[in-house]
Amino acid sequence: MAFENLLIENKKRIQYIIINRESKLNALNKATLAELHTALYEAFQNPEVGGIIITGVGQKAFVAGADIAEFVGVDADGGRDIARQGQTTVFDMIENGNKPVIAAINGFALGGGLELAMACHIRVATDHAKMGLPEVGLGLMPGYGGTQRLSWLIGKGRAMELIMTADMIGAAEAHRYGLVNHVVAQDQLLDKAEEILNKILSKAPLAVASAITAINAAFHPGENGFETEINEFSKCFGTKDIKEGISAFLQKRKPEFKGE
Ligand code: COA
Repeated sequence: MAFENLLIENKKRIQYIIINRESKLNALNKATLAELHTALYEAFQNPEVGGIIITGVGQKAFVAGADIAEFVGVDADGGRDIARQGQTTVFDMIENGNKPVIAAINGFALGGGLELAMACHIRVATDHAKMGLPEVGLGLMPGYGGTQRLSWLIGKGRAMELIMTADMIGAAEAHRYGLVNHVVAQDQLLDKAEEILNKILSKAPLAVASAITAINAAFHPGENGFETEINEFSKCFGTKDIKEGISAFLQKRKPEFKGE
């Protein structure tokens, strides 16, 4: 499917989803969020796609936030709809996806942009990237899961400070905080994201999906993560991949997983 605000590129089993609104620093307007939902749905369904890299067009911005121009005239009910709709159709969808999703942060990741990166399973940033949740400076607060995911990733005290001051931090500090997994030079960004994703794609896809589910359960209040782990562990034993993995180990050869 062709998109107006996204570019889709395929490189073997990797699908790139590239936010393509460079004149607005890739800000997420409603149309872009709707397209993201469709692109993600298709990528998660498509058996040819093993994993996804999300990035932004250009070298300046990953995503500079939700599109502020669309907030004019929104009332409290409208605000609730924006947050709920965005969270369920895009941000939660990425986090709970059955395939690995990596954010390649190529510049500003602010507000909804950082929330998008935080919904991804792994983050790689270029050394000039800047990150923050500046919403309180607009009379707003994060609404696409930012208060929750930032606290999970960097701890409550740092999340409180970053959100309440609306400060931006650079890539080195984000790395020190654990907000991003790796920091690399701009020209290494996609190579690094691909290197990580290709390593994951050489493993058993259903086992990787189960691991995503079980790790996420650790952060879902009310869910017993240990029970989820038991169930997902058990599911692995019903796959063909576990037979292949064990045979390959015993036969001292590389496994060839089929995701079955
Ligand atoms: N929503 C809508 N438009 C945005 C945007 C956003 N979140 N972020 C940037 N833009 C637009 C600007 O309005 C400008 O459009 P214009 O050329 O039609 O006037 C264009 O993108 C370029 O941005 P500009 O502000 O001129 O670039 P800059 O280099 O001076 O500053 C930033 C870069 C990222 C510091 C600045 O754009 C910014 O603060 N953006 C908003 C960040 C934010 O608060 N995000 C959270 C939103 S909830």
